[in-house]
Amino acid sequence: MMKVSTTITNELLVRLNDEIATQLVSQVPLVGEVARYTIGGGGKRLRPILLLLTAGSLGYEDRRAVQLATAIEFVHTATLLHDDVVDNSAVRRGMRTANERFGNAAAVLVGDFLYSRAFQIMVDVGEIRVFRIMADATNDISEGEVLQLSNVKNVDLTVDSYFEMIRAKTARLFEAAAMLGGIVAGGGQEVISNFGKYGVHLGTAFQIVDDILDYDGDEGDIGKKLGDDLAEGKITLPMIHALEHGSSEDIAKIQTAIFADGTPDLDSVIDIFRRLESLGYSRQLAKLEINSAEHSIASLPQSSYKECLIELAENSLSRIK
Ligand code: IPE
Ligand code: IPE
Ligand code: MG
Ligand code: MG
Repeated sequence: MMKVSTTITNELLVRLNDEIATQLVSQVPLVGEVARYTIGGGGKRLRPILLLLTAGSLGYEDRRAVQLATAIEFVHTATLLHDDVVDNSAVRRGMRTANERFGNAAAVLVGDFLYSRAFQIMVDVGEIRVFRIMADATNDISEGEVLQLSNVKNVDLTVDSYFEMIRAKTARLFEAAAMLGGIVAGGGQEVISNFGKYGVHLGTAFQIVDDILDYDGDEGDIGKKLGDDLAEGKITLPMIHALEHGSSEDIAKIQTAIFADGTPDLDSVIDIFRRLESLGYSRQLAKLEINSAEHSIASLPQSSYKECLIELAENSLSRIK
């Protein structure tokens, strides 16, 4: 399990979780119930931590950073609420998903609540560049999710298209988080842009790792069910690799699993991935992204915050074997 368990991040987490609780107030009891169920149910808080670390690396630790970090986590949670509905997922953060527990309608509507609450928080912070970045990021995330939907069961999906998709649906929010920390801290153009690059690369690696874990993880560790991607016909990096390098027999087996009604044969697909080293290939591409992420912040002055940013990048790979 990925953790950045230093004193810094523990302190930041306490402040963040306090702000999250403060911001979850609603007149409508079901809103609070569903939102607290999902947000209180755990989550690694990676994106808000990222924001607090980039801000901290420029010497900024005021509440405005914590408010923006909360907004980022709300947007993230909103996308997860919606994503679990569209992906038909039953388990997240080691618990039943909100759609399983409260139904699709409540999950979608509380997702909308969290999205709009995030923008209310940003209004309080009152920085126009924050709006621009978050408006663009949330719009791209939606497009990324739709792009993924359009590519369900598309066995011709290329590595380039996969990267385009995960940059939109996942890396954009990491990018936004990292940049917002720079902005709230009053950083210059160049440092903000470097943070953005760090975020894109980290987020890209993170999604590749998540896609590997969907085949090779431990359900207890990842808090999600294995094989969800295959069951939904999602074509991810290991699959693209196997479809490109497998024998015609392998390809036929994989395609049968992709197009299966009901539960596909996950084990035989995993066997093929192992033999073709499709997971190792995916890991290598994730590693390249991590190298680029670290490179992007190389010129940042040394600080304990910078060390945490490096650690965050390194740890995202250690989630996989
Ligand atoms: C899950 O993100 C969605 C992906 C982009 C893979 P996280 O793994 O960061 O989710 P939580 O917040 O820790 O549950
Ligand atoms: C993550 O996508 C959702 C978003 C980035 C919006 P996935 O569908 O791959 O993530 P999990 O596996 O459900 O967490
Ligand atoms: Mg999903
Ligand atoms: Mg996934």
